[in-house]
Amino acid sequence: MDTILFLGTDTEVIPNLIHYYYKNSKDNDSFLKAVNSACKDLKGSYAIEVICKDFPDTMIVAKKDSPLVIGTCNNENYVASDIPAILSYTKNFYLLEDNEIVELYKDKIHFYNNNLEEIKKEIKNIEWDATSSEKAGFPDYMLKEIYEQPNSVRETIGSRLKIGEKVNFDDIYISKEYLEKVNKIYLVACGTAMHAGLSIKPMLEQLCKIPVIVDVASEFRYRNPLIDSNTLCIFISQSGETADTIAALKLAKLNNSKTIAISNVIGSSITREADYTIYTHAGPEIAVASTKAYTAQVTLLALLSIYFAETLGNDVERIENIKKEILALPEKIQSILDNVSQIESFASKVYNEHDIFFLGRGIDYTVALEASLKLKEISYIHSDAYAAGELKHGPIALIENGITVIGIITDPSIIEKTISNIQEVITRGAKTFIVTNQNLNNDNYNEVIKIPSTDAMISPILSVIPLQLFAYYISKEKGLDVDKPRNLAKSVTVE
Ligand code: AGP
Repeated sequence: MDTILFLGTDTEVIPNLIHYYYKNSKDNDSFLKAVNSACKDLKGSYAIEVICKDFPDTMIVAKKDSPLVIGTCNNENYVASDIPAILSYTKNFYLLEDNEIVELYKDKIHFYNNNLEEIKKEIKNIEWDATSSEKAGFPDYMLKEIYEQPNSVRETIGSRLKIGEKVNFDDIYISKEYLEKVNKIYLVACGTAMHAGLSIKPMLEQLCKIPVIVDVASEFRYRNPLIDSNTLCIFISQSGETADTIAALKLAKLNNSKTIAISNVIGSSITREADYTIYTHAGPEIAVASTKAYTAQVTLLALLSIYFAETLGNDVERIENIKKEILALPEKIQSILDNVSQIESFASKVYNEHDIFFLGRGIDYTVALEASLKLKEISYIHSDAYAAGELKHGPIALIENGITVIGIITDPSIIEKTISNIQEVITRGAKTFIVTNQNLNNDNYNEVIKIPSTDAMISPILSVIPLQLFAYYISKEKGLDVDKPRNLAKSVTVE
């Protein structure tokens, strides 16, 4: 009778399952076969590298729904969960698909499908250089990545946008006939990537005249969304490995939706699932708190909105002005980064707060959500973001003397309303820190951070910068690990 093993974790179960198959198989590729048989029994996501004392020169590698890359150069092979981990050894990678299995030797690699038929795979050359995943003199990856944003936005714009020409996305083909059939667009993502979707919703809707729904991937995948061949689903993911976002994409495909993935990692899982992929070119983002990916995602989505509008032939008078403003973004971001002392000073005054609230209306509310996430995930301060008009429907009960409220005011069409909401919290004793591109009476507030103006539809790309820095400085004042905050991973590859 077989011994029944009561094992604690899957890292114990898997080797024992492999051993079970191995001891019952007697031919010379029994190691490979045993791992393959075990993988067929596994449920859920996994990425495994297996060694065996009887095959000292061999490692068997397999994955499903979890990231895993194989780097290769000069008769050496490397296995890791993501590219930056081995970028300093090689720029040549094999990107493993689910249900593939690999026989890895020091100087050769054999790939098989799960019927153990050998398959050929092409090497991907990743443009990132090794230094781009180093700190380059900055104290933390997060600060480096905040300061890389003029360049990462410039690289994301790339050759897609030239004044006087239509925006080009020659890496995807979306026809006018198709777009005219589309009756709704879903933007689906998690965390910061979802906030990027929220920030671009107004622009996408106004330019394309198509309803846009922004959804959290972990909700979308279980809510049985009303999607079909007339729904365009766009999935945003910096890592391209977020389990919920990948699952949501698979659901959209099952419902015959056309799918576009927006990712920052070439060859990531999401890019291999989607009908089309467009890449942000932000370079490796190492810090858990996503910063340059957000501004790159909003920039790319702004360009995609213009591309759709021009494909539809929509005559949007302000498109040419938005194009000019997009091209001016890198310099405007740089001008904010050149004046951070006021932000750092205010952070040093409030880093011990227990609660910090963010307020904004319209597009500024989407930035309030992103700023609040940044703050809570790296400073562990309780924070919430409210649509400023919602204050009187409950949240204002939280406002008491001395509490810190951050206001974001960039949309001239609703400035008076937002100022009035900020005044309500000031009357109740709140300290206020305002991020604005408008001329306010600074005497009314504790701090006003003036940022450059731009088209209201792309203002999040600028208004988020001081708030990324605000969260960073507070975390540093608290002596926390800014790059690796507690309980969080850079990529959430499990549900
Ligand atoms: C943002 O700072 C967090 N690290 C987190 O919310 C992140 O944005 C989210 O997990 C989505 O990650 P992705 O873009 O790699 O899919």
